[in-house]
Amino acid sequence: AGFDVVVLATTASTNDVALEQAVSRGADRLWVVAREQTKGRGRHGRQWASPPGNLYASLVLREPCEPPAAPQLGFVAGLALHDAVAGVTGLTAPRLALKWPNDLLMDGGKLSGLILEGHRIGPDMCFAVVIGMGLNVAHKPTDTPYPARCLAEAVGAVDVGEVFRALSSSFADRLAQWERGRGFARTREAWLSRAAGIGGRARVRLPGGELTGTFAGLDAAGRLLLDGPDGRRTIDAGDLYLGLS
Ligand code: BTN
Repeated sequence: AGFDVVVLATTASTNDVALEQAVSRGADRLWVVAREQTKGRGRHGRQWASPPGNLYASLVLREPCEPPAAPQLGFVAGLALHDAVAGVTGLTAPRLALKWPNDLLMDGGKLSGLILEGHRIGPDMCFAVVIGMGLNVAHKPTDTPYPARCLAEAVGAVDVGEVFRALSSSFADRLAQWERGRGFARTREAWLSRAAGIGGRARVRLPGGELTGTFAGLDAAGRLLLDGPDGRRTIDAGDLYLGLS
């Protein structure tokens, strides 16, 4: 099935446009891409600096009314970003690695971030999941909680349009693989084989404080497993910092 694509010069946030389009057009699978954003947002209420030269893309998917699969879609998206960047640049693991839950790292710094937003829309109040992806192509932000990287640092100039075309194609493939598999197992396995920091020291920042331990992998639902002095913890959401002593 094809995905519609809306291309914009500038907008506040591609995530907002994607949701509006899903409501007004009833689109099931639609991409919104912008050259720049004036109010790009990141996770945990942070801003996402969005000057021209990087990739800003949101995909909205209408979900069945069953329990939303949004967290799993984050892993599908992370894999699609990894595939796309590897395909365009030739970079491979371990230089290019996934960081739980949904970031892509290059040479240990954050190359892309992803935000997932779920909304109930339409007369049937079914779910629309908006997956917003920002990828540092030409520029990297400063003053970020996690050190940042951009593709230009490793491979020189890269065409943003080419990265988007690669992403839309790898996303369609990964989504089909996830849907065919009717479950998370294969996606989880593919994700783990590209993951950064497994078996290493990690710190997770949570709303109520911080945990440190050894990053032991993911449970069957994609939650992070952290082995600490008090045993194994299973963590739903948080900010992960890798490679600490
Ligand atoms: C993060 O904090 O790591 C997530 C960053 C997500 C940024 C992207 S850019 C395209 C889309 N539109 C937004 O406003 N945010 C996401």
